[in-house]
Amino acid sequence: MAGYEAGFRDLTEEVRDRDLPVEGTIPAWLDGALYRNGPARWTVGDAAADHWFDGLTHLTRFAFDDGGVRYTNRFPRTEAYRAAVEEGSFAGQFSSTDGYLARVKSMLTGESTDNANVHVARIGGDLVALTETPNWLRIDPESLESAGTLDYADNLTAHHVTAHLRQAPDSGAHWGYFTRFGRTNEYVLFRIPEGTTRRERVGSVAVEKPAYMHSFALTPAHAVLVEPPLVTHPAKFLLPGSGGFIDSYDWEPDRGTRFLILRRDTGELVREATVPAFFTFHTANAFERDGSLVVDLVAYDDDSAVTDLSLGALRGGDAGFPSGELRRYRLPLDGGGPSHDHLADEVEMPRFSPAVHTREYEHAYAQSTEMDGGNALVRVDVAEGGAVGGRWEEAGVYSGEPVFVPHPEGDDEAEGVVLSLCLDTDAERSVLVVLDGDLTELARAPLPHAVPFGFHGEYFRD
Ligand SMILES: [Fe+2]
Repeated sequence: MAGYEAGFRDLTEEVRDRDLPVEGTIPAWLDGALYRNGPARWTVGDAAADHWFDGLTHLTRFAFDDGGVRYTNRFPRTEAYRAAVEEGSFAGQFSSTDGYLARVKSMLTGESTDNANVHVARIGGDLVALTETPNWLRIDPESLESAGTLDYADNLTAHHVTAHLRQAPDSGAHWGYFTRFGRTNEYVLFRIPEGTTRRERVGSVAVEKPAYMHSFALTPAHAVLVEPPLVTHPAKFLLPGSGGFIDSYDWEPDRGTRFLILRRDTGELVREATVPAFFTFHTANAFERDGSLVVDLVAYDDDSAVTDLSLGALRGGDAGFPSGELRRYRLPLDGGGPSHDHLADEVEMPRFSPAVHTREYEHAYAQSTEMDGGNALVRVDVAEGGAVGGRWEEAGVYSGEPVFVPHPEGDDEAEGVVLSLCLDTDAERSVLVVLDGDLTELARAPLPHAVPFGFHGEYFRD
């Protein structure tokens, strides 16, 4: 039996609108589509990417209709794809050892990689593939082919951007932040009003040594940046032989991890709070209660969550996946000291119902990173101190990010389904599983091939 290294094997097959066989019953109300993004090819001939995050962008679509599901997958023909396939180059990515000139140029001129393999969103009416450079891709929602990079209707200069936008429930605007390197480095909070591609600058924080930040959190009144002490100085990008983008960052735990809380209406930085160092990729939900801002996130002791994921280690099946802890941080807005509670161990990819975004909520859904011939999906009942409210697992199956889709007329937060693209290592193919809100299986649909482990996705109603 293959282990999880099967999730790091190159995929090359592409299919279009393939009807998948369904075992069980997919609820008939599910009539939209799940789009997912992630790297799925790391080698072309003798050329290879070094880091899991540097594989070529691969998009999947699962279109639901009347209990059936049609599957499409595509490698958009980006510049990065052409460079890899035609020139055998994986240069200029997140972490690559041969991309020095390309990388310097990319960081300072904005001509950075268009290998947008992290997430998806619907912006200005278009399906968009997101990555951590400003080179986001407009994607044809049917063919999943690239229609070129997104043109922003603004003049902002961004260098490192979050791929985890947060859509505000009140206005529909997408919120995010980017880092701009320069004489003064700054984090810039921005919003993209619904129906536009215009990034509006809301506020900024000047910073001497910018950190690597991956996601942030939103509440009705505030945006929260979580700044781990994985920091760089832009001059480091110019040093020859310093490796890829992430290799230019140093772990400086004495700095601690800093929360930066900005007002959404004025952009003003209203609160900074520093706590003992941790690293994080992903926030879960956040909200405000009793004068405090509450933010749930997956914390790591150090930066090994970034540095341990070389492709060689993953393909060899001996990567030490670091253990993430779901924590709840409480940040009093009046200046009192921050505190945190433990919610769950060994989880990643936290998601929750979009119906409760920015509100006090009950359930977070996550992958368990406890890997023993497979890994589970878990529901963490955050309002109950982290009690396990549901669990799904199967021998030999590795789960993907659980995307929660609320029932369109549901009253209860758990009324809906969880969609997860999993890898069945015995059958050596992927399977889409449809679970209900307590992670009881409703249906599954096997794919014609194995999709390597991806990152993030979203469900959009038609
Ligand atoms: Fe992410």
